[in-house]
Amino acid sequence: MPAAPLRLGLAGLGTVGIGVVKILEREADLVAARAGRPVVITAVSARDRSKNRDADLSRFAWETDPVALASRDDIDVFVEVMGGHEGPARAATEAALAAGKDVVSANKALLAHHGQTLATQAEAKGATIRFEAAVAGGIPVIKALTEGLAGNRIKRVMGVMNGTCNYILTRMQAAGLPYDQVFEEARQLGYLEADPNLDVGGIDAGHKLSLLAAIAFGTQVAFDAVELEGIGNVSIDDIRLADEMGYRIKLLGVAQMTGRGLEQRMTPCLVPTESPFGPLMGGTNMVMLEGDSVGQIFLRGPGAGMGPTASAVMGDVIDIARGIRLPTFGLPAAQLTKPVPARSAAAAPYYLRMTLLDKPGALAKIATCLGEAGVSIDQMRQINQKGDEDDDAIVLIVTHKATPADISDAMARFGATGVLVGAPVAIRIEEV
Ligand code: NAP
Ligand code: HSE
Repeated sequence: MPAAPLRLGLAGLGTVGIGVVKILEREADLVAARAGRPVVITAVSARDRSKNRDADLSRFAWETDPVALASRDDIDVFVEVMGGHEGPARAATEAALAAGKDVVSANKALLAHHGQTLATQAEAKGATIRFEAAVAGGIPVIKALTEGLAGNRIKRVMGVMNGTCNYILTRMQAAGLPYDQVFEEARQLGYLEADPNLDVGGIDAGHKLSLLAAIAFGTQVAFDAVELEGIGNVSIDDIRLADEMGYRIKLLGVAQMTGRGLEQRMTPCLVPTESPFGPLMGGTNMVMLEGDSVGQIFLRGPGAGMGPTASAVMGDVIDIARGIRLPTFGLPAAQLTKPVPARSAAAAPYYLRMTLLDKPGALAKIATCLGEAGVSIDQMRQINQKGDEDDDAIVLIVTHKATPADISDAMARFGATGVLVGAPVAIRIEEV
């Protein structure tokens, strides 16, 4: 007897949802062969039924309410590709789990905010939640971490996980354009989320990091404890000058379990140009996973878009069709510990940029401030603005490893010297 089909209820017919429809239209036989049974869409939901979606949806039942879709008797898996961490996405996901359906989601915001509750609810019903598409788009990073590296104690997770931010930063660098102009370009190209602050404020990437950290360290998702800083203050001057010093600026996420607790940061950082993250251009994502046995693994690929994201959704769907059922975050929800957030980041080298009055003793005062704050200088460069000795001078300093508190102390001392023109800049240098 042929195996029963796996029946999907697809909530959301935008970029990701239509990508899933297209893969199933094009590759039904391949998917069925790999899954060991046919995979079919039974019913779909979106807001506007009359919208032209460039796909034939006529054979699917239509539900205006995604909660009704999630509860239908004729679906086995609820695929949530609507978005939003409250409202219909949350209500429909909860309804699907309450009805014992498996869930495949691309929604990092929902899982970052409610992952623990949803995982607990899923387990109580014997259901599974999969969310490969939610982190780094088409890169199978959840699978790598949960399955391939399951025999490792994970030491660190690091990554560029927001393609829009990487596009903006690398476009600024390549074209020598200021942030505001490239932000506007990104908006016109349709790269930005409806709320652009999700991208440029680092929130979207922070959601993703918090999900990886939960799997990596066996902890409950702690998005609220991610130190977040967006890219809005990254200047073209710093991109250019850092480049001259051998660094690139990235919105980089780092999660590691330290003696001080769980450190999770999503902030602009300098990385050496020759590091694996240095040459990463445009919307491409890259994640480094470091395990005690395996060492460092780098995964690189498209972090967004119809094909890559639908590819990730289909990988999850096929796993469910194959009968592969894993706990949402790699461990039963009750075994995930509540993480103690590290109060401050580990020590690191810092890049400092400041403009000084070009007069005798100015640089010495800055060096003294650094010494008094316990910060040691590794490299220093002075650039006279117009080659004229009366003009202000830009000073670039790379420090040896210092704590964020010591750097803040030094910056406060700089302010009292009377030799600064404008505000100094400090950016952490992340060692891979
Ligand atoms: P999208 O293009 O904006 O599509 C969202 C879809 O959800 C639309 O079809 C919309 O209906 C539907 N929808 C929204 N609210 C609804 C409601 N109340 N009831 C029923 N349907 C509703 O979004 P997307 O880019 O596909 O993203 C979907 C999810 O995947 C999000 O969680 C996003 O963060 C995640 N994701 C996206 C990407 C990507 O590259 N786009 C990558 C990774 C993860 P209408 O079409 O009728 O408006
Ligand atoms: N806004 C996200 C990005 C989409 O730019 O990476 C994929 O999650």
